[in-house]
Amino acid sequence: MGLTIAEKIIKNHLVDGDMTTGSEIGIIFDHTLTHDVTGTLGYLAFETMNIPKVKAELSLSYVDHNLLQADYKNMDDHMFLKSTAEKFGVILSRAGNGICHSIHYQRFGKPGKTLIGSDSHSTTGGGLGVLCIGAGALDVAMSMAGEAYYLQMPEIVKVELKGKLSPGVAAKDIILELLRRIGVKGGLGKIMEYSGKGVNSLSVPERATITNMGAEVGATTSIFPSDEITKEFLVKQGREKDFVEIKADEDAVYSEVITIDLDTLMPLVAMPSMPDNVVKVSELEQVKVNQVFIGSCTNGSYADIAKAAKVLKGKKVHPDVSLSVSAGTRQTFQELMRDGIIADLVTSGARIMENSCGACTGIGQAPNTGGVSVRTSNRNFKGRSGTMDAKLYLVSPETAAATAITGYVSQVLDGENAQVLENIGEPEVYHIDDTMFIYPPEDGSGVEIYRGPNIKPLPIPEILIGNLEVPVVGKFGDNITTDDITPASATFSALRSNVPEISKITFMGRDTDFVERAKKMERSIIVGGENYGQGSSREHAAVAPMYLGVKAVIAKSIARIHKANLINFGVLPLVFKNKEDYDKIDREDILFIENIVDQIKSKKVTVLNKTKDISFEVEIEVTDREATILASGGKLNFVKNKNKKI
Ligand code: F3S
Repeated sequence: MGLTIAEKIIKNHLVDGDMTTGSEIGIIFDHTLTHDVTGTLGYLAFETMNIPKVKAELSLSYVDHNLLQADYKNMDDHMFLKSTAEKFGVILSRAGNGICHSIHYQRFGKPGKTLIGSDSHSTTGGGLGVLCIGAGALDVAMSMAGEAYYLQMPEIVKVELKGKLSPGVAAKDIILELLRRIGVKGGLGKIMEYSGKGVNSLSVPERATITNMGAEVGATTSIFPSDEITKEFLVKQGREKDFVEIKADEDAVYSEVITIDLDTLMPLVAMPSMPDNVVKVSELEQVKVNQVFIGSCTNGSYADIAKAAKVLKGKKVHPDVSLSVSAGTRQTFQELMRDGIIADLVTSGARIMENSCGACTGIGQAPNTGGVSVRTSNRNFKGRSGTMDAKLYLVSPETAAATAITGYVSQVLDGENAQVLENIGEPEVYHIDDTMFIYPPEDGSGVEIYRGPNIKPLPIPEILIGNLEVPVVGKFGDNITTDDITPASATFSALRSNVPEISKITFMGRDTDFVERAKKMERSIIVGGENYGQGSSREHAAVAPMYLGVKAVIAKSIARIHKANLINFGVLPLVFKNKEDYDKIDREDILFIENIVDQIKSKKVTVLNKTKDISFEVEIEVTDREATILASGGKLNFVKNKNKKI
């Protein structure tokens, strides 16, 4: 039986398991990636392991998320990252160099390799034929230490692209179409593998837009073949030697096939506040817009911004709209300047922002109260923009540019000559300049780690023993995101290395008294609905509740990365056996679990609601290895005491 692309790469990196779908596998990652928001926690964790130097083939520390220097905190974190990179043998990508995922596929990604990144959109590199996974920073630290990463062998889904996109319709519309069809949970436990004739007309950055937002369908990762288009991209990046061809075998077997016809695809928009709430732009009632943002790791490529500039050329940004544009990388920004595209944008009234995440994650450019923001980024959850009640719409760069002109959500096909976009693609020549990377010394043992007052040690979880009797601190509905738990904002990212402080914003937008209640209760449980912890991989969403005394989450289902983060930080991820039991619990009810460690071991846990005198079963869907980690009090305790068995 032939192999899919994903199976071929996994097979080459497998150290444990037999690749049977659903069974646990351990794989080694060649490349690791962190960014400044999640990275500090990763390097704090790496430090506790007492390993002098990273063992992964290539490790990068990107400074791209929060570049504000409103006070000392951020700069202290950046200095901490610079010194840990030098000490541990990690390449540092300096602030101003651009967004981690976009830089990584431009300058470092190699088809056939594996990458683990402490960001859910680390999947972006799948556009280059790299098997990339997003995980918590602690797991990335483990991979830096040369340890295997464990996951359940995903199903492999074939996404067959037929036909060719029309001008005005973009790669973004392909992934929005997939979101429309399968939703934010449709990719759970799956790898989306792209194939078909439609693939041949997509550039590497266009493919990367699709693999980037594979995170939004909940997929473990997404991947494209490495073909002539990949080769051409690598040649232009001066990296021809990194090319290898990778394609699926003719007789490869997929669990499912999804076909998308690019010929008939139309411009789409994800409505507030879920990325799968997708409709055709042409079907929208007139929506008045206050802000447009073009950029991010999803749509910050040369062609993305050049197409937006073409739509805007000779026109002016609507007086009611603030348009900000940010190239994904410094390389792309240099090319756009060289080719006069930045000048065209400025002439139209666009504001040019730094090459960073910025607006995408609510760091600067927050919309007005109750405002409407149309964005080319990948997330539109409540609070993502930094303004809690702003409404966020996700679109392609072409649609965003048309919207900036009219002042309401519009597509290029509306009265614009879409044909002018037909020949706009990646530039003939890339601007290659790697001077913003700082390479570590061969021996970093003498490097002193810079530690400002905002860098606090990682809290270590309590080891659970005996019975657990705790109140319910909060009860939440379906699709609670990690943004709901620890909202993305300048406050969040400035406090990322200071768990005691960051815990004060836990559930801030959802439940204003949560923190006070949790502190009063000292030890507690959270109850959630379906897909609890979806969205960004940030492990602060596990660490902050843990710090506040949360011992377990009981939900109808828990998102993959968040579940791993809960386990890593010693918080029990429990799932209702019968979903109706969710209704048998109210906030402040007292829940009782007898002999917690024995029950973890049996993977079935009986919970007694003492307040209502009702018992129900919950499952703990963990492997034996994860059960051992939980019983050890999380991964850091586990690593320190590897031989402890339950
Ligand atoms: Fe940055 Fe937004 Fe991407 S925060 S890594 S641009 S999802």
